Amino acid sequence: MAQPSAEAVIETRALSKRYRGGQLAVDGLDLAVPRGSVFGFLGPNGSGKTTTIRVLLGLIDATEGAVNVLGEPMPSAARRVLPRVGALIEGPALYGFLSGRGNLHRYDAADPTADPRTRRVRVERALERVGLSAAASKKAKAYSLGMKQRLGIAAALLQPRELLVLDEPTNGLDPQGMREIRSLVRALAEDGTTVFLSSHLLDEIEQVCSHTAVMNRGRLVTQGTVAEMSADARGRLTVTTPDGGEAARVLKEHGVGDLTVAGDEVTGELPLPGPETDSPPPPELADLNAALVRAGVRVRAFGVTRASLEDVFVALTGEGFDVAG
Ligand SMILES: Nc1ncnc2c1ncn2[C@@H]1O[C@H](COP(=O)(O)OP(=O)(O)O)[C@@H](O)[C@H]1O
Ligand SMILES: [Mg+2]
Repeated sequence: MAQPSAEAVIETRALSKRYRGGQLAVDGLDLAVPRGSVFGFLGPNGSGKTTTIRVLLGLIDATEGAVNVLGEPMPSAARRVLPRVGALIEGPALYGFLSGRGNLHRYDAADPTADPRTRRVRVERALERVGLSAAASKKAKAYSLGMKQRLGIAAALLQPRELLVLDEPTNGLDPQGMREIRSLVRALAEDGTTVFLSSHLLDEIEQVCSHTAVMNRGRLVTQGTVAEMSADARGRLTVTTPDGGEAARVLKEHGVGDLTVAGDEVTGELPLPGPETDSPPPPELADLNAALVRAGVRVRAFGVTRASLEDVFVALTGEGFDVAG
């Protein structure tokens, strides 16, 4: 389901990384991250997400393959590319004894291109952006984990960025902290920043991302829009009726596939809306129910169980997903 994009802000071709000691962490990765997307880089622990991100940012060298970030080859164009990219990998390095504001002043001062005369404005704007203005004077060691992450994102946002790369930004956060990061990511995306974030949590990707790539053991399993992924997780219809045979006949007529009759339960795959075909649109559930009743089928129960993205992942990889991380 990979699709060519008008403009990719990240593009890798046959990217592989073998660590010293022989470990093949990334294996022939072809990634295309469209500009303006919130791109979820999804995979269980150890699947190669952080390794890929490190290569993208020029922190480690690829063993093989090519990497383009913002249209320029990495790592050779790192000096031109990296100022346009904000990144947060494995939690921010903070001074606990400094306030949130003090930490940002320190980060800004470490940037040789940052004009000291406009530092105050940049720092206050970044604090505001991540919702830390009110807590800016508190020492960073008193911050919750979620506030620390947001401060790290603020540091990445001191300069205007076209691309923000966040490696597992919600790792270790409580549900409230996760919500804060999610809404921040959404707000940044609305401002036009492309956000590339890694996660081992499926529902997180489903909630904030427009696009996703799924990794497993260093390899790309699939990539595309989250809507496409969710469409793959189409629902299964279950009808409870004493008239199983007749129900199956009617459902089949209406495009329901893979029908099985067991006892008083008939189950089947709901037809998918097929953008690439000229077939008529799939029937509404209400129409299916009405058709059964019209045909004299006694319907006791009628429902759809929608497969989750997790089911899709399991179907794609043949493995469970370590949701607990
Ligand atoms: N510095 C390293 N040296 C050797 N092996 C590594 C190193 N970093 C990661 N690995 C291995 O590479 C694989 C991918 O790791 P990583 O990229 O951290 O995955 P993820 O971020 O998806 O959890 C794992 O098997 C991990 O043990
Ligand atoms: Mg990682």
